[in-house]
Amino acid sequence: MAERCVQILVVHSLTLILLFSCYPHVINATESPPYTVVLSAPDVEIRFYRDSSWISATVAGDGGTSYNKSTHDGFHRLYQYVRGRNEYNTRFKITTPTVTTITATSNGSSDYVVSMYMASISRPPMASPQLNLRISNWKSHCVAVRTFSGFAGDDNIYEERSLLLFSLAKSSILDGKNVSISAERSSYSVAQYNASSHLSGRVNEAWINVVPCPFLH
Ligand SMILES: *[C@@H]1O[C@H](CO)[C@@H](O)[C@H](O)[C@H]1NC(C)=O
Ligand SMILES: *[C@@H]1O[C@H](CO)[C@@H](O)[C@H](O)[C@H]1NC(C)=O
Ligand SMILES: *[C@@H]1O[C@H](CO)[C@@H](O)[C@H](O)[C@H]1NC(C)=O
Ligand SMILES: *[C@@H]1O[C@H](CO)[C@@H](O)[C@H](O)[C@H]1NC(C)=O
Repeated sequence: MAERCVQILVVHSLTLILLFSCYPHVINATESPPYTVVLSAPDVEIRFYRDSSWISATVAGDGGTSYNKSTHDGFHRLYQYVRGRNEYNTRFKITTPTVTTITATSNGSSDYVVSMYMASISRPPMASPQLNLRISNWKSHCVAVRTFSGFAGDDNIYEERSLLLFSLAKSSILDGKNVSISAERSSYSVAQYNASSHLSGRVNEAWINVVPCPFLH
């Protein structure tokens, strides 16, 4: 899909200024990362996600002390990127979910990385440097997922992670198959699918990576 650019020549005093004005074009692509369900149980399912590109904001400093603040700060930066603050002024549709990955650090605090799926775009444009974002290429992997409703926040996400681990532990038999599932405990993610203006009918998920993918080699 070609960039639609117009070149405008402006003669100002004796200076010839060449302005490139690229009409932002909106890329319509898959709204959410595709996955296949590998195994499912009543409270948990294991999904296989293929290689995908994401744009990510690491939140440090004050914002990095809470999930609420970090997700807010990170999403704001990602939003500016999709609205055109990138090297080609390309505008994208907001994709879902917004994924906040929480990793415990050795001193007991947590690191927060907020990510948005870049659909099937193989080479997303670089973000404006001030936004301090990076493009992450996620290798195909399996995730254990537990869905919860309401608002995701500091007050409930750790409990949702615990419930996910608990469901995984008791679901040694999934789809009638006896499997042993090993979850990565060093980090977990919270996926949010709805804008904050939606007060009811909200869908969130707790994610924990599962290594190796059961039944996939
Ligand atoms: C904990 O370590 C992280 C880096 O891993 C650092 O950014 C943060 O400031 C530290 N927090 C405290 C309270 O020492
Ligand atoms: C975090 O944000 C959610 C949703 O906006 C809210 O319900 C919750 O009270 C907040 N928690 C904290 C600790 O600020
Ligand atoms: C599942 O496998 C484990 C060990 O691999 C075994 O101890 C357990 O009895 C099995 N459970 C069932 C219901 O087959
Ligand atoms: C929230 O997002 C989920 C998943 O995309 C969707 O099924 C649901 O309808 C949304 N809820 C509202 C209130 O829009």
